[in-house]
Amino acid sequence: MKDIIELYIKDSELSDLRNNTVDLKRWDLTPRQICDLELLMNGAFNPLKGFLSKIDYENVLDHMRLADGSLWPIPIILDVTEDFAKNLSIGKSIALCDHEGVILAQMTITDLWVPDKKLEAQKIYGTVDESHPGVNYLLNNTNPIYVGGKIQGLEPPNHYDFKERRNSPNELRSYFQKLGWEKIVAFQTRNPLHRAHQELTFKAAKDVQANLLLHPVIGLTKPGDIDHFTRVRCYEAVLKHYPKSTTSLSLLNLAMRMAGPKEAIWHGLIRKNYGCTHFIVGRDHAGPGKDKNGKDFYHPYAALELFEKFSSEMGIEMVGFKNMVYVEKKAQYEQIDTLGPNDKYLSISGTELRRRLQEGLEIPNWFSYPEVVEELRKSHPSKTKQGFTVFFTGLSGSGKSTIANALMVKLMELGGRPVTLLDGDVVRQNLSSELGFSKEHRDLNIRRIGYVASEITKNGGIALCAPIAPYQQTRKTVRSEIEHYGVFIEIHVATSLEECEKRDRKGLYKLAREGKIKEFTGISDPYEIPKNPELTIQTEDYNVDECALQIILKLENMGLIEGSGTL
Ligand code: PPS
Repeated sequence: MKDIIELYIKDSELSDLRNNTVDLKRWDLTPRQICDLELLMNGAFNPLKGFLSKIDYENVLDHMRLADGSLWPIPIILDVTEDFAKNLSIGKSIALCDHEGVILAQMTITDLWVPDKKLEAQKIYGTVDESHPGVNYLLNNTNPIYVGGKIQGLEPPNHYDFKERRNSPNELRSYFQKLGWEKIVAFQTRNPLHRAHQELTFKAAKDVQANLLLHPVIGLTKPGDIDHFTRVRCYEAVLKHYPKSTTSLSLLNLAMRMAGPKEAIWHGLIRKNYGCTHFIVGRDHAGPGKDKNGKDFYHPYAALELFEKFSSEMGIEMVGFKNMVYVEKKAQYEQIDTLGPNDKYLSISGTELRRRLQEGLEIPNWFSYPEVVEELRKSHPSKTKQGFTVFFTGLSGSGKSTIANALMVKLMELGGRPVTLLDGDVVRQNLSSELGFSKEHRDLNIRRIGYVASEITKNGGIALCAPIAPYQQTRKTVRSEIEHYGVFIEIHVATSLEECEKRDRKGLYKLAREGKIKEFTGISDPYEIPKNPELTIQTEDYNVDECALQIILKLENMGLIEGSGTL
């Protein structure tokens, strides 16, 4: 097997290039660009020699090919900000750096242009619907200017995790050669491996009499996917159940686009570069999920059809598979299309698996190996063990802090998770001591509270936040940040302004009425009433204990805490 061409500079030229790169304008690569650059440099994206030029880009959009006619379905572009593009010109070089500022490559600019991103979305993904993760990324997370040019690689991006399993195409090629593997079938995945996948890969390898390469993607995958740390631990557990001499596991730092059929072609070309002779394409390959009307973006078997059409040109054969399901009567997995109309079968969807993990329900052995389930449970504890945030909002003096304090004590009495109270006043003495009460400062204050609460939630704790948080949009932003990690419960402490002013425990309303405190919420500054809080509390009707109890009941109802015996 011949080596694939890499874009790294020769060792003898390295120090010269390093010296002249130091003075160049530096672009800090985004996480996706780092993935792309790594695979450009190590030859996984062969025949690309850099980020696409404009003519190659247009050909990829229109014909799924580079300008020289080579098949290439996905545009690999370097997108930069307008500010960065200002002083760039054709013929100049730039340095491409990782997030620590390490220079990974030099690029000589051949093209600079403003793309029509909607056109790109339509041509590559067949849609401009932003529920498609690839389209969403393109339209909302990609910089406005594209820069094309050849790459001279200095060094690969550094990785601290699973080093021994990250292999370049040439490393895998020589590994296959050393073992005498001539036929190799690759299996692509962005999910944990369960028994259905294992059966499918066993059968694929047997059908084409090839060795098997498990080649999961650990770069950027679909938002919401299981993190790669957990997945790799699952892969290693499953690997023990494959015959050692026939199967190998290697990790691919690819940033997926979820482009369905076109992505399948791309995946095939990449695996060819890694020395594989066959590639498994299953149902809904690299599927982006449903569109805004709940319909599939691509037909589940469109990827198989497209791959079949191009496989001889690509030089890698497809092993196509329909869905594998468990036939209990025979205690084995079979492809769904081989079953008769009355044959009964079992399967567990991704959604059902998540529900079972969330609720701590049984996940049967026919579905997955116990070691895999154990790994998944570790990183996806049931709801009663996950972190969450209770976010109080209401006027000054409405009772937020008092209720939050009572709730904190009750939660500590129940035990199980650490509880942190981020009270408005206390935060302003510590985290936000330099801030005032302008809209800008209030928003910054709430975003800081949201950030701390999201970290607490991520790490399995309970965050109780009790600021005024007068603005709807800022509360919404904080909610979506926290919901990445756990449940967010907004509680409106709906004490009326009249009642707060009547209580005026800190004497602030009097000062505000006298104009001695400016921008005072409810008096001279707005308070936007929450539209859909999880709970509204009327403190005029209930004492503090009763208010805290209402929240405890709500948390029980949501499955976040176990029966507290409070009834
Ligand atoms: S915000 O809008 O969410 O940032 O406000 P917050 O940080 O929660 O406010 C904390 C306490 O600051 C006191 N205070 C004021 N509140 C509103 N408007 C003005 N201008 C103001 N000046 C001082 C007030 O006592 C808030 O405490 P709570 O616990 O809400 O009574």
